[in-house]
Amino acid sequence: MLKIRGLKKKFKNFQALNGLDMEIEEGALYGFVGPNGAGKTTAIRIITGLLLPDEGTVEIGGKDALRYREEVKDDFGYVPDEFGMYDNLKVWEYMEFFASCYGYSGLVARERCTELLKQVKLDDRADAFVDSLSRGMKQRLCLARALIHDPKLLVLDEPTSGMDPRTRMEFKELLKELCAEGKTILVSSHILSELSQMCTDIGIIDAGKIVLSGNMTEILQKVNDSNPLLIKVYEHREAAIKMLRQDPAVKTIAIREDDIAVRFHGGHEAEADLLRKLVTAGIPVSGFIREQGDLESIFMQITNHDKGKVVLTSEE
Ligand SMILES: Nc1ncnc2c1ncn2[C@@H]1O[C@H](COP(=O)(O)OP(=O)(O)O)[C@@H](O)[C@H]1O
Ligand SMILES: [Mg+2]
Repeated sequence: MLKIRGLKKKFKNFQALNGLDMEIEEGALYGFVGPNGAGKTTAIRIITGLLLPDEGTVEIGGKDALRYREEVKDDFGYVPDEFGMYDNLKVWEYMEFFASCYGYSGLVARERCTELLKQVKLDDRADAFVDSLSRGMKQRLCLARALIHDPKLLVLDEPTSGMDPRTRMEFKELLKELCAEGKTILVSSHILSELSQMCTDIGIIDAGKIVLSGNMTEILQKVNDSNPLLIKVYEHREAAIKMLRQDPAVKTIAIREDDIAVRFHGGHEAEADLLRKLVTAGIPVSGFIREQGDLESIFMQITNHDKGKVVLTSEE
């Protein structure tokens, strides 16, 4: 649906994008995460045609978006990070204005707007002035506007920033709903945990480059692999350690209070095998659990240190 290759953009002496590659499959809910200043907005402005890159290509739905701007402009809807509102308009006037921009008029326009306002739960606010809406409501109105022409791709730049937790959650539910209806969604945030719960795929950007990307489940699995297995045995600890040493999937062994902390490379099946071996050997295992995957700390590791070195590829 969206394919970006080697995107570069320099502002005076500052290289904001430095060879950005990105690929979003149809139907994905793609989280575009990176610290402030990483280049998210710059990339999104290029994707949406508001800014031209110095180098690189952007394809939307298989079409060269930089060359054929006019042809792709109806393929996506855009919710910018900051938006000029038309404050002296009522909600329905605002919607109908944009509907008319996309060539809808009369009853068709009215039905389309009513349907969208209902979907973003603003139907009871149709007569309110845009100005009087809360930030969360304005953001939802902006989303409704971006959906008027029923685009395949939705691009949202930090839509949940400045929202309270409840509004945030509702907005994320709305995005999931849209994704389930078949939209492909690109949503940016500088907070990883904000997106890791809902996204199917993720791309982490730092200093104008993607440092880690992929399917969310696979990434979590890799994080899982890099976390220690915590094994509790209530006796025969020495025998357990001896057995663990002989297992090729065991990389390191450490004692952590009551637990034996094992760096173990293997999925659930290998974990189950290991547990079975221990139990069969008569070792009384009373605890056997992976330490929970902490994506946030991996993110810090990638973005603060070891730039360019992806810590999640299992090197062994
Ligand atoms: N129009 C501009 N002129 C000069 N510098 C800019 C401009 N737009 C963005 N930048 C710089 O480029 C970097 C990336 O910005 P941006 O894409 O807004 O990052 P993000 O959205 O990830 O926070 C920042 O350091 C920002 O100051
Ligand atoms: Mg930004």
